[in-house]
Parts: sequence; structure tokens; C-alpha cells
Amino acid sequence: MDRVLSGMQSSGKVHLGNYVGALQNWVKLQDKYDCYYFVADWHALTTGYNNPAVLHDSVTDLLVNFIAAGLDPDKCTIFIQSRILEHAELHLLLSMITPLGWLERVPTYKEKQTELSERDLSTYGFLGYPLLQTADIIMYRAKHVPVGIDQVPHLEISREIARRFNNLYCDVFPEPDALLTPFPKVPGVDGRKMSKSYGNAIYLSDSAKEVEQKIRTMTTDPARVKRTDKGDPELSPVFQLHKIFSTKEEQAEVAEGCRTAGIGCIDCKKVLIKNVFSVLEPIWTKREALLADPDRLHAIAEKGNEKARKVAQETMQLVRKAMGLY
Ligand code: TRP
Repeated sequence: MDRVLSGMQSSGKVHLGNYVGALQNWVKLQDKYDCYYFVADWHALTTGYNNPAVLHDSVTDLLVNFIAAGLDPDKCTIFIQSRILEHAELHLLLSMITPLGWLERVPTYKEKQTELSERDLSTYGFLGYPLLQTADIIMYRAKHVPVGIDQVPHLEISREIARRFNNLYCDVFPEPDALLTPFPKVPGVDGRKMSKSYGNAIYLSDSAKEVEQKIRTMTTDPARVKRTDKGDPELSPVFQLHKIFSTKEEQAEVAEGCRTAGIGCIDCKKVLIKNVFSVLEPIWTKREALLADPDRLHAIAEKGNEKARKVAQETMQLVRKAMGLY
């Protein structure tokens, strides 16, 4: 079985966008591949180094949601990046052979600095973000990396660095490829991309009441002010969510009702609430069970960490040997 690896940065709570965009896909892959999934807590530090409390809580939230979303610790390996110190060693060793220009040219570097301009991201660690990601990936000699389209430049640099290592020393690393997640961007409650930094996210840890409240107050077609106004569903983020969570028949019904003013926005939202609930309810049940049993959660992470560490140690033996460190 080919190896698959992916990680999620622990810089906040898991939201529906993460679920639909990543976790659901990870769950599918665990039956077909030898999958390694991890919490990227060091990556979270590259931008969130001044908020250790958020980082700490977020690691637990991610772990709980990985499993609540359907990752099965008997089928895949779930681990925490910072518990595998070999990632730091590989990151350091790769830094010796990584030209600065390669890192400076990664488009996400400048983009993120602009997007998060209130933070000081002129750090060494932030520039090295894609290099740390490269270490994560090639450590497990992973073939496929399921990610969203925004991560493609990081996969590109991972391949270049793997190639450079193999050329300079000897063949240790296969070149990983991106397994693009076939899912549209999930809009948040204000129509922009769902993101914790926009404050528009529905979290897996939200209660039923909170989810209902968030959907009920969502923006819709701004031109549809009164109940009797006709609307254009394509201009409503509620309809974008219907496309993800509702059946084709329901989508057709609410679209028609919106265009003809046959239904009101609240009627339309009620259908969405019902469907989002049916996705979240099994997750809520599993979350509760896990949160009530921290020992079990701890044991799952420990088992995954150990398994990951074994592979990482094997890789590092090859790397050290190749670089003259023996
Ligand atoms: N950069 C990824 C993200 O923001 C997280 C990540 C870190 C990752 N290391 C990885 C993803 C390795 C895939 C493989 O989502």
C-alpha cells in the first residue's frame, strides 16, 4: 500500500470547512492507503508564537475531531508533530541544502505576511514554513499528500528539495505529489471563505444552538429585503452551503422558492440547518465520548506517535548516513 501523509495546523478549532475540505477526504483514504495524519503544532507556532494557550487547546481539539470525524486509529496513524523530534532534525539538515531564494519565492510567503500584517512574520521560522512541511512529508517517504489547492506551492518545493537531496547524496526520498481534494471552498456565514480569522466559521465543537443561531443569522441575497422580494440563490451563501450539504432535490426546491419568493429565507435556512445537523450529530456524539475519556485520547496519540517515530527513526538513519553523520 502506498503511503499517504497529511497534516492540519493547530492554530484554532476545527470548522466545517476543515471537515469538508480535508477530514472527510482523509477518512475515505484510510481504507485505500497506509495513512499518516498529524497535528502540525510547530507550524502553528510559525504565526501564533505569542499564544501558547490557544496552541495547547487547539492540539486537543484537532485530535478529538480527527477521530470524531471518522479517522480510525486502527486503520491509520494519528500523531502530533512536536512529539517526533526527528522532524526538527530533518528540518535542520534540509536547511543546509535549501537555497534561500527557493523559500522567498514560495507565493504563500508574501501572501500570508500581507494577510496577517498585524503580526510580525519577518522571522526565520516563518520563512522556513514550507521547509518544515517538506520535512514532515518526506520523513515518511510519502507518495501522496491530500491537500487543498492552496498547498500546491508547498508540494512543489517539497519535490524540489527531495530531488536535490537525492542528487547531492543518494536516493532516499520519493517525490511526493499533491492529491487534490475535490471540494469547493466552503463559505462561512458571511459568504467569504470559512476561516477562523474572519470570525465566520461553524465549528465542530459548536452546540446545536450555536449552529442554528449562526445559520439563522447568515447573510442571503442582499437584494432580497422583504419576504415578497424575489431572490437569486446564486448570490446567497446559504445556497452555497446547500450545494454541499443538501440533496439535489432540496437544492432545486429552495432555489425555485427563492427565485419565485415562494419561500422565505428562514424556510430555506431550516432545510440547511437540518442537513448540517445530520452531519454534525454523529460527530458530536463521538466528541462527547472522547472528551469524557481523556486516557483513551492520550493512548491513541501515544500509539500513533510511537508508530510514526519508528518510521522517522529509520528515515533519519538513512539521512545521517547520506550526509556523513555516522
Ligand atoms: N500547511 C498545511 C496547512 O496549512 C499543514 C501542514 C503542515 C501539512 N505539514 C504538512 C499538510 C504536511 C500536508 C503535509 O494546511
